[in-house]
Amino acid sequence: MWLQGGDDCPPGVRFETDPSLPPEAFRLTGGKGGCLIESADEAGRMYGGYALLAKLALGGTPETISMTNAPAVSERILNHWDNLTGDVERGYSGKSLFFKNGEVSYDPQRMKDYARLLASVGINRVCFNNVNVTPLAARLITDKLGDLAQLAAIFRPFHIKTIIAVDFSSPILLGGLSTADPLDGGVAAWWAKAAETVYKAIPDLAGFLVKADSEFRDGPAAMGRTQADGANVIARALKPYGGKVYWRCFVYNCEQDWRDTKTDRPKAAYDHFFPLDGSFDNNVILQVKHGPSDFQVREPNSPLLGAMKDTAQAMELQVTQEYTGQQIDLYALAVQWEEILSAPVSDTRSTRGLVGQEIQAVAAVANTGDDANWTGHTLAQANLYAFGRLAWDPSLTAREILSDWIGLTFGTNPALREPLLNMMLDSRGVYEKYNAPLGLCWMVNINHHYGPSPEGYEFSKWGTYHRADAKAIGVDRTDNGTGYTSQYHPYLRALYSNPDTCPEELLLYFHRLPYTYTLKSGKTLLQHIYDTHFEGAEDVEGFIETWDGLQPLLPESAYYSVAARLKRQLVNAREWRDVINTYFYRKSGIPDRQGRKIYP
Ligand code: GCU
Repeated sequence: MWLQGGDDCPPGVRFETDPSLPPEAFRLTGGKGGCLIESADEAGRMYGGYALLAKLALGGTPETISMTNAPAVSERILNHWDNLTGDVERGYSGKSLFFKNGEVSYDPQRMKDYARLLASVGINRVCFNNVNVTPLAARLITDKLGDLAQLAAIFRPFHIKTIIAVDFSSPILLGGLSTADPLDGGVAAWWAKAAETVYKAIPDLAGFLVKADSEFRDGPAAMGRTQADGANVIARALKPYGGKVYWRCFVYNCEQDWRDTKTDRPKAAYDHFFPLDGSFDNNVILQVKHGPSDFQVREPNSPLLGAMKDTAQAMELQVTQEYTGQQIDLYALAVQWEEILSAPVSDTRSTRGLVGQEIQAVAAVANTGDDANWTGHTLAQANLYAFGRLAWDPSLTAREILSDWIGLTFGTNPALREPLLNMMLDSRGVYEKYNAPLGLCWMVNINHHYGPSPEGYEFSKWGTYHRADAKAIGVDRTDNGTGYTSQYHPYLRALYSNPDTCPEELLLYFHRLPYTYTLKSGKTLLQHIYDTHFEGAEDVEGFIETWDGLQPLLPESAYYSVAARLKRQLVNAREWRDVINTYFYRKSGIPDRQGRKIYP
């Protein structure tokens, strides 16, 4: 079922059961005549099959294949932000694959291909609908449930379970109750009934995803209840069926006054959730964004990750490139994710070390849509691939993953693979060079988040301020400032609190510094900003040259579609360069030491 049979099923494959292997794990043993795939369960067979196909496609021969592999976490979740209208929130690859004109609507063959595609990279949970649940989408658990169940049935043979994003105020919206108060008996009974109905239609549903008290969405806080009260009432309804609540921690004051310098948005998730450790039911998973801001190009890891010893957590990444170039600009997220996983949580542990322990699931916002190539930018396919691979095995490097993706997509010819690999590995750093510098974040155009606007968010309500003046920029988040650093392990608190030890790429996330501050390179902070912005735009010219040089080795359609996007990227990079450099020049009055063109 999961292999299409015929052509892509390699000859000489034998399957055997080995109950001693962990769930979903597989052992591949190659030999002259073919290959043996052993597993404890059906899912393991499937993953073993895909791994074998990948090995062969990358040039392996059956005799050389020998590997045992088990996933680091049992839940590898893809969250789509698709609306029933067919639009995709933060989607850059066309329209929804699942919904149209208010209905569940899809191409059955393409859907099967999609399920197979996701399974082949190890994804085993899918939420089809947006966390921002519209009244129409709320009905996916009532009158649209039958249609959703049919969609779930397409994914089931690929060992992918469905998650449904639900609205916290569903008892009011759908049930006609006067309250959604989680401590109200009628509300608990409503959720219990809803769960019973949903599990009749989708017996293996993984659970409900909830965005509550977040960006104008209802939640328990409005009723004077805690996040734990809110999550637990739904968790108890799902419990009899083995379901879970994936409760998002993206809770912050989105109506802040920019004059208020005490409230500091990065502190919010920890402040709201850490004190509640131990009060969540054991089928609640707190879904925490990897950083305390919002999927920015550079931010530290959330101090909440791993901090709650008695609460299960999912780390949430964003495959869709909301702040990272919107699938117009090339940005290999694997590089950033490797950095995130390698970042320390203490003097003895890295974030990677939490995966499979405190972090029990990995989730990501999807980058797919109904574009023919799934992801708009052909090379952005590598981001979805990388998410699946890393969620399965967080010890993989970006180099390994991207090299495999290129090999599987375009073949293993080193004349193509090496230059493209280098270009993709560089792409994150290049984007960062022309974007907001040194961890500042939020210098993007408001609402749609593409292109520069240094003060777009500066006087807004979203809690996103860099507070640049004529002499200095950044927010002091140490104990002398907002105190955000105190949320970290003492080792990291000390590291981040001192500008000399703070990783330089995060300097302005944690500190307010003068433009004349000297960096380790000996350059001033301002000169660094000018230099990186000039370099970033030049690097994109280099990407175009590299890509053009690869044209003879590339399929025509991939060549032309990526070439067109690289051109747009260059326009964007130059715009960022000029806007950011001019902004800082106007603020500081300090010229570029190299006398390059900065618009007055
Ligand atoms: C970001 C994004 C929103 C999204 C939100 C979330 O703020 O811009 O579109 O709804 O994250 O993660 O819920």
